[in-house]
Amino acid sequence: SLIPVILAGGKGERFWPLSRKHRPKQFLSLDGSGKSLLQATSDRLLAFSGVWEKLWVCTSSQLADGVRSQLPLLPVDNLLVEPEGRDTAPAVAWTTLEIARRYGDNAVVGFFPADHWIADESAFQETINAATQLAAEKEAIVTLGIKPNYPSTGYGYIEQGEQVGTFGELPAYRVSRFTEKPDRETAETFLSTGRFSWNSGMFVFRAGVVLQELRTHAPEIIYPLAEKSVIAYPQLPKKSIDYALMEKTNLAYVLPASFGWDDLGDWNAIERLLKGDKLNVELATHVGLDTKGSIIYANGEDETIVTIGLEDVVIVRDRNVTLIVKKDRTQEIKQVLKKLQDDP
Ligand code: GDD
Ligand code: MG
Repeated sequence: SLIPVILAGGKGERFWPLSRKHRPKQFLSLDGSGKSLLQATSDRLLAFSGVWEKLWVCTSSQLADGVRSQLPLLPVDNLLVEPEGRDTAPAVAWTTLEIARRYGDNAVVGFFPADHWIADESAFQETINAATQLAAEKEAIVTLGIKPNYPSTGYGYIEQGEQVGTFGELPAYRVSRFTEKPDRETAETFLSTGRFSWNSGMFVFRAGVVLQELRTHAPEIIYPLAEKSVIAYPQLPKKSIDYALMEKTNLAYVLPASFGWDDLGDWNAIERLLKGDKLNVELATHVGLDTKGSIIYANGEDETIVTIGLEDVVIVRDRNVTLIVKKDRTQEIKQVLKKLQDDP
């Protein structure tokens, strides 16, 4: 069976000001369900572990209290707390080492982002079961490929190689190339070939396989962690698993994912989730004149937002902050945050 790990140390900056330092995206409920993205993720993954004792979470010290209060049933020993975020390669390396220590090198581990939206839970289970089977059988780092629909520069791209068999009902392929966050031009070329999918950001493998691959491709990360555990953190480079391992390994495989997926990357995702056929996505009392294509959000009961003559903007009001940004420039929130001395 699978040992699921939730990576919950990210900042989710592109959802600012709703996401703040101590309240990142994964702690929020964006779909109105009342459950946070982290809680929805753990519910979904309990289907594989069966019990809380086999579910793991890796997060940063800044967010650890938030994780504990959102997941009170998570055993203390299954929460790995990084002194500070070093991106996902150290998080995956450290967690895999700890899991190998507890369950052995043959344990099949799955890494899952804390902040994704998944439409069809049973199709998701079938896909993850197929990935688990593939990882148990082969020396494989299994990725899930999402059918791309525009040349995004925010995702990893997976080029499909030869088919190696069928797992569950799903065809499995070797990955002939993995390219993290290409520029626009490269992304367009990839799309035009029809051979590429987006990387979903979920990975399934046997612990020993990834530890071996990290020794080859990321020695600067795995050796200090193997020797000193979490004490090694300050000396580790900031690097994502996509750059540190996926672009380099020859053991990557891909299964097609068709369970309905959105990584809720920025404010525009709210529109994809909630749009319907209305003029605007309104999560506040909104009175508008000639306003369309806009996302209007207020955190608080007594807020009214009034607009005249606007198109394609995002307006977010949260306590002491108001953000107003054109819809096609929400990626730049990260940049503007650097200008703000302190996240107000
Ligand atoms: N523990 C820990 N520590 N978790 C982290 C850290 C860290 O330092 N940094 C990020 N995470 C968590 C985030 O909370 C998120 O759940 C997950 O790891 C992925 O990190 P992101 O920062 O959201 O990655 P990304 O969106 O830029 O890119 C990844 O996901 C894409 C799909 O959404 C890559 O895997 C891409 O290839 C992929 O397409
Ligand atoms: Mg992400």
